[in-house]
Amino acid sequence: MAIRNICLIGDEVLRKKSRPVAEIDARVVSLLDDMAETLHASNGVGLAAPQVGVLRRCVVIDMGTGLMKLVNPEIIDSQGEHIVEEGCLSIPNRRGSVKRPEQVTVRTLDEKGVERLIDAQGELAKCLCHEIDHLDGILFIDRAVKVQEG
Ligand code: NI
Repeated sequence: MAIRNICLIGDEVLRKKSRPVAEIDARVVSLLDDMAETLHASNGVGLAAPQVGVLRRCVVIDMGTGLMKLVNPEIIDSQGEHIVEEGCLSIPNRRGSVKRPEQVTVRTLDEKGVERLIDAQGELAKCLCHEIDHLDGILFIDRAVKVQEG
C-alpha cells in the first residue's frame, strides 16, 4: 500500500470522465488499497480515483463506521432535496452549500466484484453523491449555491 498524491483544483484530471472498470484485477485492488490509505492519511471521508490521477470509476468512503470500496458506483434512485455543506480534499480551504438528494440508492460492485445496493441518507448520501460526481468530472463548487473560504 502507498499514499498517493492528491490532485488539486486546476489539475485537468479532475475535469475528465472516468472509465468503468471492466475487471477487478490486481491493479484495481492496489488502487483501492492506496486510495484507502490516502483517505485515512488525509482525514477525509471520501476519495474518488481521479483525485489521485486515475480515471477509473473507483471510490473509497469511510464515515468512521467502516471502509467502503466501490467500483462502478451509480445512483439509481434519489429522493428529496436539501442543502448540505461540503468540502473536498482537492479544494483545500473552501466549503460550499450544495443542493443534494436526501436519500439515494446506489448500485455498485464491492472490491470482490459482488454487486451491492446501498440505501443511504444524511452524510453518507451526501458523500456518495459528491464522490460519484468526481467520476464525471464534476466538483462540488459547480453545484454550490454558495462557496466560502475556510
Ligand atoms: Ni471531493
